[in-house]
Amino acid sequence: MMGPPGAGKGTQSKMLSAKYSVPQVSTGDMLRDAVKRRSRLGVEAKMYMDRGQLVRDGIVVGIIEERLKRSDCAQGFILDGFPRNTAQAEALDSMLKGIGRPLDFVMLIEVNEEALVKRLTGRRVCKACGAEYHILYKPSAKGAECEKCAAEIIQRSDDREDVIRERLKVYRESTEPLAEYYGASGILRRLDGDGPIDSVQAKLVEIMAGRAPKAEAAAS
Ligand code: AP5
Repeated sequence: MMGPPGAGKGTQSKMLSAKYSVPQVSTGDMLRDAVKRRSRLGVEAKMYMDRGQLVRDGIVVGIIEERLKRSDCAQGFILDGFPRNTAQAEALDSMLKGIGRPLDFVMLIEVNEEALVKRLTGRRVCKACGAEYHILYKPSAKGAECEKCAAEIIQRSDDREDVIRERLKVYRESTEPLAEYYGASGILRRLDGDGPIDSVQAKLVEIMAGRAPKAEAAAS
C-alpha cells in the first residue's frame, strides 16, 4: 500500500486485512511500538520520525525481514508504508524472491495535498489503546478522553503541520519515484483516495478481484 502521508494506507490496509484474513504489516506501527517500549531501536527511530524523515533503511528492512518470516504471513500479507525508497524496494525484491512470494499489486492511493494536511493536523489518537479520532470528522464523545478506555487523547508528534510538510516533501522525493519502479513491472494500480472511506475500500476490492480494468483503476 503506497501513498503520501494521510492518504489512508493504514485505514484501508486494516479493512483489507479483516476482509482477506491476512496481516497488515505496517513499518510505521512497528516503529511506533518500538518508540513506546523505549527500545534502543525505538530511541533511534524517534529522532527521524519526529522530524518527518525516513528511518534508516537497515532498521526498517531488518524489521520487515523478521516480520515476514512469522507464520501468520504464510498465506499473504499487506505491506503498509514499506518500501519507501528504491533501496528498500530492491531489498524487498530479494527478500520476496527468497521466499518465492512475489507482490500481486502495488496500490497507490492519491489524495490532494491540502486534504492530506487537513486529515493529519486534525488526527488524534488514544495514548493507551491507539483508538483514532479527528477533531473535525470524528471527535471523541468524551472530549479529551478516549471513548473506549478513558485514557488521554493526544496528537501524534509527527502530525504537527511543519512535520507533515516535511513528510510530504520526503514522500515526493523518495517514495513517489517507486510508482515508476512498480509501473514498469505492471503491478501498479492507482486509485483516487478522496471520498468516503467505504467507497475507497470498494474500489480497492474491485481492483484486487480483477473487476476494475487497469485504465479505469488509473483514472478513478
Ligand atoms: P507511517 O505511520 O507509515 O506514516 P505516514 O505514511 O507518513 O502516514 P500515516 O500513517 O499518517 O497515513 P496513512 O496513509 O496510513 O493514512 P491513515 O489511514 O492513517 O510512518 C510514520 C513515520 O515512520 C515516517 O515518517 C518515518 O519516519 C517512519 N517510517 C515508516 N515506515 C518507514 C519506512 N518504510 N522507511 C523509513 N521510515 C519509515 O489516515 C490518516 C487520517 O486520515 C486518519 O485520521 C484517517 O481517519 C483519515 N482518513 C483516512 N481515509 C480517509 C478518507 N477517505 N476520508 C477522510 N479521512 C480519511
